[in-house]
Amino acid sequence: MFWLTLVTCFLFVSWGTAVDVNWYKNIIVYQIYPRSFKDGNGDGIGDLNGITSKLEHVADIGAKALWLSPIYKSPQVDFGYDISNFTDVDPNYGTLADFDRLIAKARRLKLKVIMDFVPNHSSNQHPWFQKSIRKVKPYDQYYVWRDAKIVNGKRQPPNNWLSNFGGSAWQWNDVRKQYYLHQFATAQPDLNYRNTALNQEMKNVLTFWMNRGVDGFRIAAINFMFEDAKFRDERRSNKTGIPKDDYDSLVHIYTKDQNETYVTLKSWRKLMDEYSNRTKSDPKLILTEAYTTHDLTIKYYNAGSNVPFNFMFINQLNNESSAMDFKRLIDKWVRTVPKGSVPNWVVGNHDNHRVATRFGRGRADDVILMSMIMPGISVIYNGDEIGMVDRKFTYAETVDPAGCSAGRNRYHLKSRDPARTPYQWNNSTSAGFSTKAKTWLPVHSDYKTLNLEAQRDIYITQYEKFKKSMMVKKRAVVAHGSLNITLCDSRILCVMRAYGRDRIFVLFGFIDVPITIDAETVLPFPSDLVVHTVIGDSELRPGTFVLSGSITIPASGAIMFATPNLLSSNDENL
Ligand code: NOJ
Repeated sequence: MFWLTLVTCFLFVSWGTAVDVNWYKNIIVYQIYPRSFKDGNGDGIGDLNGITSKLEHVADIGAKALWLSPIYKSPQVDFGYDISNFTDVDPNYGTLADFDRLIAKARRLKLKVIMDFVPNHSSNQHPWFQKSIRKVKPYDQYYVWRDAKIVNGKRQPPNNWLSNFGGSAWQWNDVRKQYYLHQFATAQPDLNYRNTALNQEMKNVLTFWMNRGVDGFRIAAINFMFEDAKFRDERRSNKTGIPKDDYDSLVHIYTKDQNETYVTLKSWRKLMDEYSNRTKSDPKLILTEAYTTHDLTIKYYNAGSNVPFNFMFINQLNNESSAMDFKRLIDKWVRTVPKGSVPNWVVGNHDNHRVATRFGRGRADDVILMSMIMPGISVIYNGDEIGMVDRKFTYAETVDPAGCSAGRNRYHLKSRDPARTPYQWNNSTSAGFSTKAKTWLPVHSDYKTLNLEAQRDIYITQYEKFKKSMMVKKRAVVAHGSLNITLCDSRILCVMRAYGRDRIFVLFGFIDVPITIDAETVLPFPSDLVVHTVIGDSELRPGTFVLSGSITIPASGAIMFATPNLLSSNDENL
């Protein structure tokens, strides 16, 4: 008996440190845009200490991981995506010691921390680039340099490639007497992944942050990493009504989605797997950002990405989409995810209009609910959980390089400032984001009423709905249950999840007025389901049965029914 106890204890100790290979499979990833989340030192710019002071909120919304947009040293031309030192923190955001404190607190709260990794380019202030200009070895080959094309005796860029922010993707450098490639701002020279030394440098960056306790990386603009080795011109697109040098005026077959990207990603997957095996830690999460076709997105799974961002809620669906459009796209994603991997649902991010602006408030809550009841990972952008909306900017107020370079008449089509305003914590100065009245971007004027404090613990608020919706994410029925999506009629999308005795059944109404239907025609009967969450105005109360009669789905709203055991927020062992 004594020996048995001893053996059991020993096993327990070794199990206590067990690696959880599935930790990321059915979770919420919460994106924090550091400049706008919480200002800890009163300078009007968000920072690491601010974020650390608010980590309880991240845990409160049910997230398992937070993804930090870049906090690296940066001249802030593209607000952190132009990096001048990949292994240090920008003074705007704090220090490496602040970062360590953030990680330590995240650990205590059982939150994983994901860093943004920006491999495509550095800042032009990066010492590598400064040395590359002067052809110092090996840095001379770290960037994509080309000779000018001479046409009628005049210097021209080597080809017709365009920058995402408009205008030629080539910039002349008078010291090196060559053009360098920049697929984004002029201050963001593209790195050259055909160079082995550069490849190794970037791997060292990944290791540096893993050593500091990072649990994974969101890889920014991954599909821009390689370009055609022959530097061929791209053909013109058939888009009309846009300037000749607008990015969308070309079809990007030579500057995006090149096959080598997947090969490089595989090498990063290997590096991270070796790291977690060696340190006996949970596998690192890789999330990849590529706005591309469905097939090329899915291909990232096979190259080692756990979360090839699924942007369907951002660029394929909107407030005019029908129930059928949603069904078709969701079915396709779920069907094509490789065996053993999980789907993901990106609700919003810092590069696009906010979900409540794209879909309208009611339907935005529907989209959030959808992301929670689907198998896999829900990616939530800070502020969307309280229903923050875009703020309108004048051209004079615009700071985003994508907006500024589009000019006075077109900035509103390109600027991402509207979705990046400071987080609205309460109704005090600068919405509780900063003690300073003037913040780096203005606070949205609706903050007096739309803020976390006003919504917390109050029935029928955006936040309350969010929290109810997210409760089911942690349940086995969402992780492992069968999924059945049907149209109850052309305006009603019905989603059913079932696992053992647990069931979830949601009716989404795709119409701007309430729809009343006969309960018996839609609910699976005999029904043991109770109302779980209601999106929109309704008399239905959570926890009540609807055994017969009619059900009214609120305008652009939804009703989620579930087996009563799912009303509590148990964290199941998935
Ligand atoms: C991806 C980021 O999400 C975006 O904000 C940035 O502008 C581009 N990378 C270019 O740096």
